Amino acid sequence: MSFKIIDGKEIADSLRGELAKKADQYSKKYGKKPTLAVVKIGDNPATKIYVNMKEKACNDNGIEFIGHYHEKISEEELIELIENLNNDEKVNAILVQLPLPEDIDDNEIIEKINPEKDVDGFTYYNVGSMYTGTERLLPCTPLGVIRMLERSGIEIEGKHAVIIGRSNIVGKPLAALFLKRHATVTVCHSRTKNLKEHTRNADILCAATGVPKMVKASMVKKGAVVIDIGISRVDGKVVGDVDFDNVKEKASYITPVPGGVGPMTITMVIHNTLQAALSQKGEYL
Ligand SMILES: NC(=O)c1ccc[n+]([C@@H]2O[C@H](COP(=O)([O-])OP(=O)(O)OC[C@H]3O[C@@H](n4cnc5c(N)ncnc54)[C@H](OP(=O)(O)O)[C@@H]3O)[C@@H](O)[C@H]2O)c1
Repeated sequence: MSFKIIDGKEIADSLRGELAKKADQYSKKYGKKPTLAVVKIGDNPATKIYVNMKEKACNDNGIEFIGHYHEKISEEELIELIENLNNDEKVNAILVQLPLPEDIDDNEIIEKINPEKDVDGFTYYNVGSMYTGTERLLPCTPLGVIRMLERSGIEIEGKHAVIIGRSNIVGKPLAALFLKRHATVTVCHSRTKNLKEHTRNADILCAATGVPKMVKASMVKKGAVVIDIGISRVDGKVVGDVDFDNVKEKASYITPVPGGVGPMTITMVIHNTLQAALSQKGEYL
């Protein structure tokens, strides 16, 4: 079957161009750029790479990026930093790069962020809004997947979306976004029995497990749309959750790794920063 590769980088670049124009209009109107403050604690190399990618994307697209980097910090000091950022009128959006060091409770810290500045959409207020159907600031990776499907002209309404993975940052919020867009949703996880029976029913199959190449061709219905969210390193190479070379032959659309969902996630950080900045002025993106 002929398949189409969804080029996440191309879609992300086109969205970034549109967002950069809007960021420029905001800067001209309000005399300052939309501003994102990023808090990074510790010296995890993977965390450093993600933060650098976000910094570059912001700098290239009209968003001011302010980094607050600390090798070590106590929970009290971190809470004080977040409160200062909440009160800083220049800062429109705050991102605390997870995971935090083990001695700091991720949830406790995230909850200190003003929901209006919560660029990752992780505070209970934004999560609750999402589940009750009022979408405010939405988690970047699930939002990136939805935007990617929309830009590729793939209809969601009435489709059966099957998600493998139920994390709070990817699987669960993605399920909520699909439901809101009238898909029928199945969420699978490590305790799901007969995983293949579920995945083979998917019109849209999304994998977010972190298990390299776990989605095999036999798990995919002919003509399915396959979205690979996973990122793993195997022998120094970045690979996804999908056995791309074999699965592509059955798919109608498929995302590559790298160059699929990853660039969309970073683009949604820009999107959400701009959305936060505008809504703080009573405007909408
Ligand atoms: N592309 C991007 O921009 C982006 C952004 C975020 C994350 N990611 C990547 O996406 C992947 C998932 O991230 P995450 O934060 O959601 O990970 P996570 O918190 O570790 O969650 C993984 C999920 O996969 C499920 N799972 C693990 N092995 C499974 C198996 N063999 N069969 C079925 N389900 C299985 C787990 O089930 P249980 O709940 O039962 O344990 C869990 O729900 C990672 O590779 C991560 O690097 C990519």
